[in-house]
Amino acid sequence: MHSFSEKLKFFGAFIRSPKTIGSVIPTSSRVISHILDQIDWKAARLIVEYGPGMGTITQPILERLHPDARLIAIDMNAGFINHLKLSIPDPRLVAVHGSAADVGRIIANHIAGGRADYIVSGLPFSTLPEGIDNHIMSETARALTPEGAFLVYQYSRYVVPLLRTHFTSVDEAKIWRNIPPCYIFRATK
Ligand SMILES: C[S@@+](CC[C@H](N)C(=O)[O-])C[C@H]1O[C@@H](n2cnc3c(N)ncnc32)[C@H](O)[C@@H]1O
Repeated sequence: MHSFSEKLKFFGAFIRSPKTIGSVIPTSSRVISHILDQIDWKAARLIVEYGPGMGTITQPILERLHPDARLIAIDMNAGFINHLKLSIPDPRLVAVHGSAADVGRIIANHIAGGRADYIVSGLPFSTLPEGIDNHIMSETARALTPEGAFLVYQYSRYVVPLLRTHFTSVDEAKIWRNIPPCYIFRATK
């Protein structure tokens, strides 16, 4: 649960860059549980998170993450990355200021030859600059292990054609008991 000042920081970032932040409301615990229930926590050794923001999902991932596993969290907003570095002193977390489009290079900088077991995305795909969504999808498919899964939560189905272009299987669930209702997609190669 975020403090009032953290909520204010998130809101301030939204006012400055509404299209890259995408939403004023941090993701709810109901949605977070649905996403994280899809992860095989015993097996996963590398998880990547796109768009951690203030760490709404980062912290619950770390609570479940295997002691030998790593979480690489990538955000374009330097303020969010600084906040994560200061507020979550967990050696398994690598918080990176950068773009999800560079996920392959970012993983390689930290784990030689590494590929992700899961990539969890909070990116607002429908409002990102044109073309970057497709680029992020192809880099994501490349950055995952063959059995890996791309877990995406969104408030619309905008992302479905993109997922279908880059992944062979796309499952979806809709969380109705959330305001607004939220889609969760699981894409595999
Ligand atoms: C809706 S917020 C998600 C915040 C948090 N994960 C949550 O679920 O409440 C979207 C985040 O994506 C980040 N973002 C936007 N474009 C990005 C990109 N190309 N690469 C990495 N992060 C990006 C924004 O800075 C913002 O922190």
